[in-house]
Amino acid sequence: MSDGDLSNAREAVLKPSCMLPEDTLKIRGYDFNKGVDLQAVMDSFITTGFQASSLGLAIQEINVMIEKRLEPVEEGEDKEPDEYGSKAGCTIFLGYTSNLISSGVRESIRYLAEHKMVDVIVTTAGGIEEDFIKCMGNTYLGDFNLSGKELRLKALNRIGNLLVPNDNYCMFENWLMPILDQMLLEQNEQGTHWTPSKMIHRLGKEINNTDSVYYWAYKNNIPVFSPALTDGSLGDILYFHTFKKPGLILDLVEDIRGMNEKAVFAKRTGMIILGGGLVKHHICNANLMRNGADHAVFVNTGQEFDGSDSGARPDEAVSWGKIRMDAKPVKVYADASLVFPLIVSQTFATHADKLTARKKTE
Ligand SMILES: NC(=O)c1ccc[n+]([C@@H]2O[C@H](COP(=O)([O-])OP(=O)(O)OC[C@H]3O[C@@H](n4cnc5c(N)ncnc54)[C@H](O)[C@@H]3O)[C@@H](O)[C@H]2O)c1
Repeated sequence: MSDGDLSNAREAVLKPSCMLPEDTLKIRGYDFNKGVDLQAVMDSFITTGFQASSLGLAIQEINVMIEKRLEPVEEGEDKEPDEYGSKAGCTIFLGYTSNLISSGVRESIRYLAEHKMVDVIVTTAGGIEEDFIKCMGNTYLGDFNLSGKELRLKALNRIGNLLVPNDNYCMFENWLMPILDQMLLEQNEQGTHWTPSKMIHRLGKEINNTDSVYYWAYKNNIPVFSPALTDGSLGDILYFHTFKKPGLILDLVEDIRGMNEKAVFAKRTGMIILGGGLVKHHICNANLMRNGADHAVFVNTGQEFDGSDSGARPDEAVSWGKIRMDAKPVKVYADASLVFPLIVSQTFATHADKLTARKKTE
């Protein structure tokens, strides 16, 4: 090798670096020589790298949502009398896929509804019915590898590694049918105009069980939107009901107005979206109506290479005007069953005193 070649190689390998900004975080994880301190482990995530850092950033962003939520809304800043009574400085939209209600994430979500820590909920049909069904019968831990054929013969339904006895759905039907009869009667005799959110509100009242997310949503007047409410057991029962007593109508248009106005008339908005599909798009689309959410945290396992909305990173939503250009959105690539209880522990539960004091003054 000539001297020239050697110096070129040295220049290439030993190329001097530009200085990074002084406030750039240095990577350092938790040192277990300090003992088992789960709070310190959580605090170390942001400087651990990869999805641990994304989780740390998501926690920071949700804490900003909470701080803004606690700011008072001045006269004129809430542009519309709010039928649901939310006067938050930052209106927080929480969305989650159905399977998360089947899982124990339900209890974290129930905590948020119980203490009125979020303002709007969006989920899919299973995310509604599985909550009520759990008030009637248990969901059990099974295994991802159980045989579908054998489970079918035993009338056990599998959701990932969870098992739901078919009997639970029979109990749900027995509970729901007379409520549908009553809803039809009220529609016909009192002119009640049912929407999916009004139906969920009514079911939350009827279940009258403090384990239920939607019992608390009913008690705390948190609107729950589920535009595809028929895509689950609820749809099966509504279908059977059309043979028994036809005529019940659910109006989607009234609900899209209610949903979008929650975004349009808010002072600020924050989106916390667990999983993809309908729940992700429905919340983002409502926030387009205000030219974008101010804060956003996505937790999902979706990838963007297939062009799916489920996998789209927040920056795609910025291009559509669904997240503000100056926002600092975070996507955590993770199973929400692992990270959401951790997120709640570092955000809403940490600030529970301040958040519940606000609720009491409303
Ligand atoms: N228990 C159930 O899952 C259940 C029950 C009845 C009906 N359904 C119906 O199935 C349909 C599809 O369900 P869906 O739209 O709620 O979502 P889904 O289960 O189809 O999930 C949508 C996407 O969200 C992401 N995701 C899902 N689970 C996640 C997790 N644990 N962590 C991180 N990311 C996750 C994945 O990218 C997934 O592709 C809906 O219409 C629903 O009503 C589901």
